[in-house]
Amino acid sequence: MSEEVFQIEHLRERDVLDAGYDKPALLAVIGCPVSHSASPAMHQPALDACGIDGRYIKLEVPVGRVMEAFQHLSDLGFVGANVTVPHKFAALDACHHVDDAARQIGAVNTIRFIDGEIHGWNTDGPGFARAIQEEFSVKLEGMRVMIVGAGGGAGQAIATQCARDGAERVILVNRTVDKIESLAQVLKRRFPLTKFHCIALDDPQLGGVARQCQLLVNTSSLGLRPDDASPIDASCFASHHWVYDTIYKPPMTQFLRDGFKQKATIANGFSMLLHQGVLAFDIWYPGRAPLEIMRAGLRSVS
Ligand code: ATR
Repeated sequence: MSEEVFQIEHLRERDVLDAGYDKPALLAVIGCPVSHSASPAMHQPALDACGIDGRYIKLEVPVGRVMEAFQHLSDLGFVGANVTVPHKFAALDACHHVDDAARQIGAVNTIRFIDGEIHGWNTDGPGFARAIQEEFSVKLEGMRVMIVGAGGGAGQAIATQCARDGAERVILVNRTVDKIESLAQVLKRRFPLTKFHCIALDDPQLGGVARQCQLLVNTSSLGLRPDDASPIDASCFASHHWVYDTIYKPPMTQFLRDGFKQKATIANGFSMLLHQGVLAFDIWYPGRAPLEIMRAGLRSVS
């Protein structure tokens, strides 16, 4: 698999983009930076297993040039692309059509070119729902969920997905409460059947509120470094909890360790990454995503 990172300048001509390769580039992950992306490790084996003669490439696109990149990809006959940080919001604006999940989450992570138009989806939220189902054999419907670090993009996608799937209650937790209050207001209006509450990370009531929840999710970036502390106190965890960390590298964060010590059931973000990818591949090639091949591909790099 190629580790090469392409730039917009490589998109001017197919001959440049495909020079030295025996297959044409058909799919890309667009980000900045993008060199660390694990997406090629699941999508290239999926293309190969389906007998599709094409490459999945990494494309580094500076902020402000997403539309230009999409236009080049469309002109070159690409099937579609994944969109990652920091472009998921700009991608929504660049699409001609978006699905309900993308509109409600406010971000696009998968595009497909259809008859010269850009169609956008969000598979992060639905991928999270599938991950929870696979890891814990439960659905989000009727669930009481606490989302820790809900002020970022992942928190917004997961909070929205919980409401879309009929969670009973969503507790948004953040260091900066302003950020989650505006999110809660939007979600309350859009999903009146789900109850939303905001609570500060340092609120002394946090432990009591956490113990009334069933699913605790870390969407904060705390845990990305191996020596990071957990964003919440160890006393918040109980044995009845399902504890999910959206971080997958490192595979064991302090958040998960604390949950494990309290005999909670734990899982990391590998499954969410996998399932958002599987759903994306199914958008490009309906019904053809080879789940276990994609899982093995991703496993080989994480
Ligand atoms: P994005 O997903 O938009 O890139 P981010 O900067 O990675 O956002 O932050 C994601 C979440 O992690 C946010 O909720 C952030 O809290 P704030 O909104 O208060 O900034 C949370 N976060 C990051 N570092 C944190 C820390 N040291 N302690 C607690 N929460 C933290």
